[in-house]
Amino acid sequence: MGRSALHGAPAPREGCVALITVLCANAGVDKTYEVPNFATGGYYHPASARTMAGGKGINVARALMALGQGLVLAGFAGGNNGRFISANLLEAGLKADLIGVAEESRVTINIIDREQRTQTRIDEVGPLVTPTELRRLRETWSRSLRSSAMGIIAGSAPRGVNLEFYADLIEDAHEIKKPVILDARDELLARAIPAKPTVISPNLNELQRLVRRQLSVPDGVVAAATDLIEQGVRMVLVTLGARGAIGMAASGGAWWAKPPAIERISSVGSGDAFIAGFAAGSMERRPFEERLRLAVACGAANAESAGACEITAERVAELLAQVTLDRLGGGGPQEESGEASK
Ligand SMILES: Nc1ncnc2c1ncn2[C@@H]1O[C@H](COP(=O)(O)OP(=O)(O)OP(=O)(O)O)[C@@H](O)[C@H]1O
Ligand SMILES: [Mg+2]
Repeated sequence: MGRSALHGAPAPREGCVALITVLCANAGVDKTYEVPNFATGGYYHPASARTMAGGKGINVARALMALGQGLVLAGFAGGNNGRFISANLLEAGLKADLIGVAEESRVTINIIDREQRTQTRIDEVGPLVTPTELRRLRETWSRSLRSSAMGIIAGSAPRGVNLEFYADLIEDAHEIKKPVILDARDELLARAIPAKPTVISPNLNELQRLVRRQLSVPDGVVAAATDLIEQGVRMVLVTLGARGAIGMAASGGAWWAKPPAIERISSVGSGDAFIAGFAAGSMERRPFEERLRLAVACGAANAESAGACEITAERVAELLAQVTLDRLGGGGPQEESGEASK
């Protein structure tokens, strides 16, 4: 698989432990239409139309590949949309272990209006999965994780998935001593906290819903992250859109990484690119704050284009040089921050 696209270090090869398993329980078909001056009730031919496999985990996988990381995707695929997803991933060179489900995979429509600078999203709820299908996904996760260095769980889950599902997957990972990055929200996130995910990555709204209070930036965010670290989460990454992200590690204190001003086209997928950047930095054993900077650069690179996670390592490297880092108060005792990969 070549060399790391970012700084020339050898990139992981398939089959060795340097893979990342990415769980995408909500894989679907993403349609992106560009419609200038879009308004409800109108009739439009889009200025451009794109159809791709999507869902947060798939976006993360796409960004990981752009960063030169090896990965395996685990998820569901059903019906004609499922066949499209499998074919599209294959075409993109993304290795996937998809569980076939009886119901149709979902479609998400994203309408981008560059004139009014708006994004409108229509998100189908997704298939109802059966307990057998769910069990098969869990088995796939564990099996794949055994030959991976870490796992990423990204996004929502389809109907039929119990709210403890992500907690179960994290416990499975702990049993085989693999770190897990979790990007989920609401009950799936709240119920996963007792299972102690290694890393969580809520945006500010998601964090506020998790801790059930409004939070000031940065002090309230740092306080909430400190609480979560006390509950056993090793790293809390809070994304703030154009304001960047605040990250806190049990072993490395708190930091605020800020991106340069960019021209935002669509930030759909920025959170996913962010996760991929953090994971790539972890695989390369960069210090915590450098992983955070890389994550922020990836999120910004994503926001500059219409698609989700169609980033390039070259653009990420340019933006990375412009991401600033401020040390914030809080966090655990200061250790060698490069240690914080587990
Ligand atoms: N307009 C922007 N300019 C620069 N960087 C951005 C912009 N929007 C997002 N980013 C970067 O991407 C990261 C993630 O974005 P954001 O906070 O929007 O995530 P999110 O709400 O989780 O998004 P998603 O919908 O993908 O889940 C931010 O922390 C920031 O570093
Ligand atoms: Mg997000």
